[in-house]
Amino acid sequence: MRLDRFLSEAGLGSRSQVKKILKDNKVRVNGSFVQDGKFQVNPESDEVFVGNDRILYQQYEYYLLNKPKGCVCANSDGKYPTVFDYVPMNAKKDLFTVGRLDLDTEGLLIITNDGAFSHSIMSPKKHVDKTYLALWDKEATADDVESFQLGMDIGDEKTTKPAKLSCDEKSPRDVYITISEGRYHQVKRMSAKVGKEVLELKRLQVGKFVLDGNLKPGEYRKFTKEELGYVEQYKGGSV
Ligand code: URA
Repeated sequence: MRLDRFLSEAGLGSRSQVKKILKDNKVRVNGSFVQDGKFQVNPESDEVFVGNDRILYQQYEYYLLNKPKGCVCANSDGKYPTVFDYVPMNAKKDLFTVGRLDLDTEGLLIITNDGAFSHSIMSPKKHVDKTYLALWDKEATADDVESFQLGMDIGDEKTTKPAKLSCDEKSPRDVYITISEGRYHQVKRMSAKVGKEVLELKRLQVGKFVLDGNLKPGEYRKFTKEELGYVEQYKGGSV
C-alpha cells in the first residue's frame, strides 16, 4: 500500500498532515528516508519509523462503548447524534457497530472494522447470548419467566428462541433478560407480549464481552488483551 495511506491509517493524521511529515524527511522505511507518499510499503513486513517511533499498522480495531441514550447506531443521521460522535471514526472510515441498539437503549456496544468478527457474534446461527437489564412498568411474574423460557410468537415468521428472564425479589420491575437472537426491538416486543412496557433498557453483556463499569455513558475504550483473545476465539469458532 502507499506510504502516505499507511501513515494516515496508522493514525498519523490526514493526508495533508502526513504529506508534511514526509516532506520534513522524518520517515524511514527499512532504514532509508523516504519522502514520496506514493512509495509502496508492505504493512506486514516493512519497518516504518517516524523519528524514533516504529509505526505498526493495525488492520483491525475494536472498541467497547457504553452507548448513551439519545444516539443512533448509524454512520450519519439527519436528526440524532450517532455513536460515531462518541467513538471518532478512524482514518480508514470503515468502523461499524456490531448489531444495533435503539435510540433510547444504553449500554454495551462493540464498534469495529472486523467484518468476520462481527459476523461471528451477530449471525443468527451462532446463538450468542445478549443480556439486558430492563425496567418494566409492572412487576415480573412467574408466568412471564415461563413465557420467555418457552419462546413466543411476536408476529415474526418463527417464534422466539428460549430466553431467560430473572429478577431480584426486592425489585421485581428490574428484569434481566438474556436472548440468543437479535431481532428488531426484540426485548421490547417480548416484554409487550407479556403485557409489560420497557421504560428503560441497558445492554450488559454480549457473549463474553461485558459492559465495563468504569465507562460512563458516552465513554469508550479499546479492547483489552483478554477481549482481543475472545475475538480470536469467536472468529475461530471455539466459543
Ligand atoms: N431489544 C430492544 O427492544 N431494543 C434494543 O435496543 C435491543 C434489544
